[in-house]
Amino acid sequence: MTADEFAQRAAARLPSACRDYFDGGAADEHTLAANRADWAALRLWPRVLRPLGTADTRTRIGPHAVAHPIWLAPVAYQRLAHPDGELASALAAAAQGAGMVLSGQSSVEVERVAAAFAREPEAGPLWFQLHAQPDAGLTRALAQRAQAAGCQAIVLTVDAPVHGVRDRERRAGFKLPPGVRAVHLPEGVAAHHHIDALLQAALTWEQLDALRAATGLPLWLKGVLHPDDARRALQAGIDGLIVSNHGGRTLDTAVSTAWALPRIARAVDGRLPLLVDGGIRRGTDVLKALALGAQGVLIGRPQVHALAAEGPLGVARLLRILRDELQVAMALTGCARIADITPAVLAE
Ligand code: FNR
Repeated sequence: MTADEFAQRAAARLPSACRDYFDGGAADEHTLAANRADWAALRLWPRVLRPLGTADTRTRIGPHAVAHPIWLAPVAYQRLAHPDGELASALAAAAQGAGMVLSGQSSVEVERVAAAFAREPEAGPLWFQLHAQPDAGLTRALAQRAQAAGCQAIVLTVDAPVHGVRDRERRAGFKLPPGVRAVHLPEGVAAHHHIDALLQAALTWEQLDALRAATGLPLWLKGVLHPDDARRALQAGIDGLIVSNHGGRTLDTAVSTAWALPRIARAVDGRLPLLVDGGIRRGTDVLKALALGAQGVLIGRPQVHALAAEGPLGVARLLRILRDELQVAMALTGCARIADITPAVLAE
């Protein structure tokens, strides 16, 4: 199986409007396409006759020692894909030693997801993602709830102060079905706010300290693409960055993440840990992301495809497959350990 085969199976099972919600991007979907095309366009140098050991995928992400660098991205409303929603993805991630960033618009409570992680001794880290809410008190309270549940970091998504122009979703007439909602938010809050209210609620650099003070947990920013914003994050004392364009769902024609990552890596020069997402579908994509300076990658759509296709077992299989593919890519590029994956694996 491959990530794309899970997508095909999911397409056959999901209602078409729901599929369009998961798969769509913003506007004409140029960035959605570029995310994948730009990983594929990077060329690898095969290397031969090197000692390969076991192609060991163990590594560090921020302060965490992890079994491998492939994590689950925050994806909202997973009960659209499977009745157990985010709990099913969490069971899979925990069993596969994958970290998970739970969406603030999760359709399952963070306490239940955290309990799944707590039961599995080999589980990776569980982090919690937030969008700034129009009510700053609610944003802080959510962060505190996630901390009390056992989440180890807060991820603030900064690339979506307003909703992208989601034409595919609009054409499909997508609406949340009864019974699926963002359980952490008061009824109606996740529904579409008026743009003026969203703009006024949007956080600025100056307001990050209050959010950090609410928990004292590490604070990561998700959705940074410009090197100047990365430098600003360093000054602001942010703990890490997720280089992301929201899977091409916000600003169409924004730069792809494969293009932005090396530029951000140069700007932070090892002083901030980086994760990246957007279009990661193969072990070779993971290897390239690591070569360009990321400590790990996040998987968005493939996670819900696998969930829709085969439930928790599907997500576990997907993670295993990507990890196996990473090991093959490491072996064929002569990398015995994650630390051996350097820019030298990439041809100009
Ligand atoms: C997302 N993404 C997202 N990001 C976030 O910070 N909070 C969220 O609630 C969501 N929800 C969400 C729903 C759906 C259906 C998708 C497809 C994506 C973005 C996600 O975390 C990630 O950045 C991208 O999905 C990565 O790109 P790929 O792997 O989908 O190509």
